[in-house]
Amino acid sequence: MKEKTLYACQKCGYQSAKWLGKCPDCSSWNTLVEEVRLAAGSRETSNATAQAPMPIDQVAVAAETRLICGISEFDRVLGGGLVAGSLVLIGGDPGIGKSTLLLQATDLLAKRGGKILYVSGEESAQQIKLRGERMGVNAGNLFVLAETALERILTHVHRVQPKVVVVDSIQTVFTSSLESAPGSVSQVRESAGRLMMLAKGSGIPVFIVGHVTKDGSIAGPRVLEHMVDTVLYFEGDAGHPYRILRAVKNRFGSTNEIGVFEMQDTGLCEVKNPSELFLSERPLGVAGSVVVAALEGSRPLLVEIQALVTASSLGVPRRTTIGVDHNRLSLLVAVLEKKIGFSLAGQDIFLNVAGGVRLNEPATDLGMVAAVASSHLDKTVDSRCLLLGEVGLAGEVRGIAQPEVRVKEAAKLGFNRCILPAGNLKQVKVKGMEIEGVRSVEEALERIF
Ligand code: TYD
Ligand code: MG
Repeated sequence: MKEKTLYACQKCGYQSAKWLGKCPDCSSWNTLVEEVRLAAGSRETSNATAQAPMPIDQVAVAAETRLICGISEFDRVLGGGLVAGSLVLIGGDPGIGKSTLLLQATDLLAKRGGKILYVSGEESAQQIKLRGERMGVNAGNLFVLAETALERILTHVHRVQPKVVVVDSIQTVFTSSLESAPGSVSQVRESAGRLMMLAKGSGIPVFIVGHVTKDGSIAGPRVLEHMVDTVLYFEGDAGHPYRILRAVKNRFGSTNEIGVFEMQDTGLCEVKNPSELFLSERPLGVAGSVVVAALEGSRPLLVEIQALVTASSLGVPRRTTIGVDHNRLSLLVAVLEKKIGFSLAGQDIFLNVAGGVRLNEPATDLGMVAAVASSHLDKTVDSRCLLLGEVGLAGEVRGIAQPEVRVKEAAKLGFNRCILPAGNLKQVKVKGMEIEGVRSVEEALERIF
């Protein structure tokens, strides 16, 4: 097989034999990246191995076998264990705990039998061992390898014949078939492609760790998302011990499933009841604090939203949010001004979701509105009242998805009142809960305060 190097524009696809600073086709700068192209005719296209099209009802399916690692939060996010031959990308900020999680998971897998190969391009075998000691990682079947050359990694995989392979991280791995530096788009993509062939060809599941970079100078996991079977993102705030593992793509399970962990000095611990944890430090009887129920996959999560509204000394008052979309807050503030008649133009508004959680569901709109109103009016919201509902621009409160599971979760934690969209009223019957339906923000605020 003859290989040829080409430079392809990442924007328009223009190809050139030489690197150019500016793409002659679309005139964008610095978009040409080295790629490998096999010489014409060298791709395997003989008819001998070609498959004929087949009616879908006649396709034979082998029983799906899944490896269970024993960290139930992790298994659930994977869709009920690890599927043979799957390629799983775990992305996240550096230092969030990706290596820790994989080391703990592979240790448990190894203890259940079968060899595991953990390849690290970032730490030496000694460093991995030292870190593992604190977490009780000591499986004799867990093989660690400090290596960055892809070809050598593949040789070791064939020699060890492991049950699972981990490559930590894809940005450190390089293949000698490309000249570009490790971490460049082409290296990352090519290496991941080869690992995919390994997974699909041998049936060995492969985990790839990918650091998310903010400046984009090094290729992040985003360029790999379309190639892999499953994409998990590890989220969390550096200042908080809580970590959320989120499935954003999963060919073998539901997306938006989450797992909650707490980083301790002995590694990551599962959090079985996250709602209880996120509400544990809630101040009671304080204006500006409201509880909402977000739905993460199949799981309801109760979280506290805090708002602070204070007179601004700036010409353009601040609208600062942590954990919710900034534009969403601006929209809801506009609704409060126009429909309720609040005067917030001279006020700084800060909105924070406690515990480092990120909310991206419209069902938490009413909670945000109530938190801002509560702080502005300096009136508290009943601490055992749950608020649900999407808020529209006309000030209407719209129905939300799956209200019942959310209300049930609140009932479990001792809440006894819930204000939700009138449209959802018929769907919810929970014992011990006083449920009130509202049609507009105005009506909701009247009932709350
Ligand atoms: P790590 O898994 O190395 O992050 P990543 O692979 O995503 O870059 O996690 C490193 C951080 O986790 C580090 O800041 C220290 C912390 N940590 C603990 O708090 N306790 C532990 O037991 C371990 C192993 C790490
Ligand atoms: Mg790491």
